[in-house]
Amino acid sequence: MCGIIGFSGYIDAEKVVLEGLKELEYRGYDSAGIALQREDSDIPYIVKKTGPVKELEKAVLENRVESFCGIGHTRWATHGGVTDVNAHPHHIGKVVLIHNGIIENYQELINSYELKDKLISETDSEVACHILNYYYEKTKDPFESIKRTVGVIIGSYSFCIMFSDIKDTIFSIRNVSPLVAASCDKGSFIASDVTALIQYSKKYFVLPEKVIAEIKKTGIELRSPDGKKVEPDYLTVDWDVEAAQKAGYPHFMIKEINEQPDALERTVRPRIVSGMTDFSGDNIPDSLFTDCSRIIIIACGTANYAGTVGKSIFEPLLKIPVNVYIASEYRYEDVITDKNTLCIVISQSGETVDTLEAMKLASQKGAKTLAIVNVKASTIAREADYVLYTHAGPEISVASTKAYTVQLAALYLLAAKMGELRGCLTNDEASEFTKAIENISDTVKKVLEYVPAQCKHVSETMIKSKDAFYIGRGLDYAFSLEGALKLKEISYIHAEACAAGELKHGTIALIEKDTPVVAIATQKKIFAKTLSNVKEVKARGAFVILISRGDEEIAEETCDILIKIPSMDDRFAVFAVAVILQLIAYYTADGKGFNVDKPRNLAKSVTVE
Ligand code: F6R
Repeated sequence: MCGIIGFSGYIDAEKVVLEGLKELEYRGYDSAGIALQREDSDIPYIVKKTGPVKELEKAVLENRVESFCGIGHTRWATHGGVTDVNAHPHHIGKVVLIHNGIIENYQELINSYELKDKLISETDSEVACHILNYYYEKTKDPFESIKRTVGVIIGSYSFCIMFSDIKDTIFSIRNVSPLVAASCDKGSFIASDVTALIQYSKKYFVLPEKVIAEIKKTGIELRSPDGKKVEPDYLTVDWDVEAAQKAGYPHFMIKEINEQPDALERTVRPRIVSGMTDFSGDNIPDSLFTDCSRIIIIACGTANYAGTVGKSIFEPLLKIPVNVYIASEYRYEDVITDKNTLCIVISQSGETVDTLEAMKLASQKGAKTLAIVNVKASTIAREADYVLYTHAGPEISVASTKAYTVQLAALYLLAAKMGELRGCLTNDEASEFTKAIENISDTVKKVLEYVPAQCKHVSETMIKSKDAFYIGRGLDYAFSLEGALKLKEISYIHAEACAAGELKHGTIALIEKDTPVVAIATQKKIFAKTLSNVKEVKARGAFVILISRGDEEIAEETCDILIKIPSMDDRFAVFAVAVILQLIAYYTADGKGFNVDKPRNLAKSVTVE
């Protein structure tokens, strides 16, 4: 959500900034803009455009300027519509500014700084630009003016700022919203995430909150608001540039679906020692797992659905209450949370603001927090008491696939460890459970070999439909939630998950001739019950796609398309089913000709509430 790139250096800034914006496109945006300092003038070259970065690029290249310092932005509209004027950068007086985040008190600031008649756009960001210009005119000091500006702002922000009378320098500061920075022999860079920097440097640092960065071609200096020098904590990216490229696949989504066996291996292998689950490499003490009497899982979207599967695995095994909360709901509900609560938060990006804030709240209430996160050193990873990194590598497609399955794998590893430590599993059982986790990657590999053609076949029906339903019971219901989300977010088909037993309480009214129903029936103990529900929808004309176990006898007339998963312990079926549901969504969206990797209105990293 909103992408920021800034560069000061020795090579063409226009190229660096435009390329950086292209790398950040996956975050989700609806307009883009660029500001370049000119070598021959104090007036910055600013171009802003709604639509894709390539439209901005076309407009920028109509009028080339020589520049070695510039900033760029992709905007995901919050305050004010999608217009060229509302796009960033904003330029007031000597200040050029881009912003990611939300200024909550912008209305009060408009009043107190008497900006009502001065505003050109409808954005909260322009308000910050006016205030900064006001203080800059007053103090002539970039640090002082930035300090005073953020001193009056309430909300989240990452700012990239250029002053037209300070050459070759960008200033940055952030609160909550992410920014990372790096330097190399080509110059210095600042960006919303490392994908925009990795082609220049694998060494980077996260800009500490409320620290002012001065980004010059010769390097980056950090100062706290009281003027003290701050040393950055350097990190190294543990994946290559190629990992964030399509590598011959038509879309990132299908590449990432196919990367799942390797991603699962990377997440699981290092945590299995002598056949048992082991988190000592993650510095997670056993007491975290033994000292709690309840678990709450907090996350958004797909990560939340991974948590729903986690609940269905944890609760019967550990015999303690496990509840899953949507992060934005947890924040405003008074959920029982105390020092005996283990709060597990799940986030691919590690930046989802609702998840972050919910985790902080749980911590304030006394819970210990454990974050399952994919992006190294992200805010959630840094703020949690303990972190369990998944190793999916960069996930560029907005629709999450490999990040979901590795989140599940992390939850299964936790179940094995907690089961063992709490005496809910004998050593032999814990070792058997761990062995099954070790085998997940092979299962996914096998499924990826034989299901694509069947999923493509399913998509031919989906493409023709306006609605689709996903049904299942127990764990299968947890899987169906993710299946419906995957389909709706990229194919724009209305898709709904319904607990199979609930159909009769309303949803079945929507089933008519040829309505696609994806029925998931992988759990032996409730197989017959789910099958009765399948019969009910079939009797009303539904086109049934049944996903079931290889060893289950299923009469031909039960469904229209049958996809079988390998026979395995029921608890592990999700990994096979996930791949099938991802591929159905992928082929449907692709078949409809949609931009699979960048669905409309969605952002990869949701950094606003
Ligand atoms: C859907 C999807 C989203 C994310 C959600 C949370 O495919 O990717 O629903 O799961 O926005 O994001 P993270 O995991 O980054 O906190």
